[in-house]
Amino acid sequence: MRIAMIGTGYVGLVSGACIADFGHRVTCVDKDSAKICALNSGEIPIYEPGLKDIVQSNVREGRLHFTTALSEAVVEADAVFIAVGTPSRRGDGYADLSYVYNATREIAAALTDFTVVITKSTVPVGTGDEVERIIREMRPNADVAVVSNPEFLREGAAIHDFKHPDRIVIGTDDERAQRVVTEIYRPLYLNQAPILYTSRRTAELIKYAANAFLATKITFINEIADLCEKLGADVQEVSRGIGLDKRIGPKFLHAGPGFGGSCFPKDVRALIKTAQDCDVPMRILEATETVNDTRKRAMARKVSAAFAGVLRGKAVAVLGLTFKPNTDDMREAPSVPLITALQDMGAKVRVYDPVGMEQAKQVLAGVTYCQGPYDCVEDADAAVIVTEWEQFRALDLERLRDLMACPVIVDLRNIYSPEDMKKQGFAYACIGRAPTFQPVNLYVPEYSPSSSRAIAVAACDRAVAQVSGGD
Ligand SMILES: NC(=O)c1ccc[n+]([C@@H]2O[C@H](COP(=O)([O-])OP(=O)(O)OC[C@H]3O[C@@H](n4cnc5c(N)ncnc54)[C@H](O)[C@@H]3O)[C@@H](O)[C@H]2O)c1
Repeated sequence: MRIAMIGTGYVGLVSGACIADFGHRVTCVDKDSAKICALNSGEIPIYEPGLKDIVQSNVREGRLHFTTALSEAVVEADAVFIAVGTPSRRGDGYADLSYVYNATREIAAALTDFTVVITKSTVPVGTGDEVERIIREMRPNADVAVVSNPEFLREGAAIHDFKHPDRIVIGTDDERAQRVVTEIYRPLYLNQAPILYTSRRTAELIKYAANAFLATKITFINEIADLCEKLGADVQEVSRGIGLDKRIGPKFLHAGPGFGGSCFPKDVRALIKTAQDCDVPMRILEATETVNDTRKRAMARKVSAAFAGVLRGKAVAVLGLTFKPNTDDMREAPSVPLITALQDMGAKVRVYDPVGMEQAKQVLAGVTYCQGPYDCVEDADAAVIVTEWEQFRALDLERLRDLMACPVIVDLRNIYSPEDMKKQGFAYACIGRAPTFQPVNLYVPEYSPSSSRAIAVAACDRAVAQVSGGD
């Protein structure tokens, strides 16, 4: 089958490469000529594990092509996927559908024989109707069917998710279109991936409801984590205790600095707006959004708490910038409001991320970019683990402690054990578990940014030893 994929971003490129891998002939289209140029010279413009291999092998086999010429790709296609961005609209939080509708107009102009237009972008209910209306208005005689086929892949595990989906949702009442989309996914169907046939509107809502539910689940455990800290309970054990209940399930119960990324924040916002327009306010989601927004910035207080609220002049090392590991995506990453808050409190911020530094440079100002985790923590008064990259899970703690001016670690992903950190001589704060110190006691009066490192280290060591029980 011949496929055109309009939009060659995180979703379009992964979907295009995987569909080519199923044996179809795919042309990925993007209006960003630099991106297409890079792809045509063998470079992958995003970081996604396993993507390079699958792109290269399908290009070699002649099944995967890249172009900026949308109409050429559409003319010969049996099916055209729309996988362009649907960011939050500036000012009001509705989904910005301008990219979808612009792509639709370009597709409409190029349609020839029977073509199935498939919306893979996450779009509010009714967008498929509008896509169809635009096409019929521009091309009244076009033989076309418009389908909703939302995508559920996760960045960082995108290839696996695309090839092993929990379900494939196909939203259309048109039998011919149903057959075409089913044929595209036939290899997955043979692998027993459940296919859910629904109406177009239902398919559109399934995607938003899924993301909104997961975002709510994260926010729920984050609030339980805050309560754990007050009550002396351990959120890791609470998560396990409730997650083992099959009605609840263990996923998305990791307490942290708040959800970010290219989907959850904007999709929660867009669903709230859609519901308001229908006079069905989504109170739970409104709370989820507010709680999550304030949480990211509030994480800075976990750092300042170690210094009696005074961060002015302190050097803070931030380990991990991307919104999650195994991606270079910085969209709505919790690191950004956290770092801004640290800077507002007067801290000097040093940062390191294994793959996100280039993207980070576009959104973070006034920070020092470092070469690696050890370079980043050198002479730092505190280190904050923001993204749980694999390489941060096994840091040489002795080296870390020796390099830091003050051994304070704030672990926003709970990747270390408080007992181990205490044994290693760190003042350690995390999420939903008691810190190894009484934060306010860690204030070190003799230390100022101008004191010598030896004085600072000695003062910090004394303070940490005193508050963490003397060992
Ligand atoms: N990123 C994810 O993990 C994920 C997961 C599931 C669903 N989604 C949804 O998929 C959609 C795409 O997300 P993304 O993260 O891949 O976005 P992205 O910003 O990475 O990519 C979108 C691409 O579309 C291109 N584009 C825009 N208009 C175009 C046009 N008229 N013709 C050709 N190219 C055009 C842009 O240049 C860009 O490269 C969104 O609706 C998103 O909500 C994303």
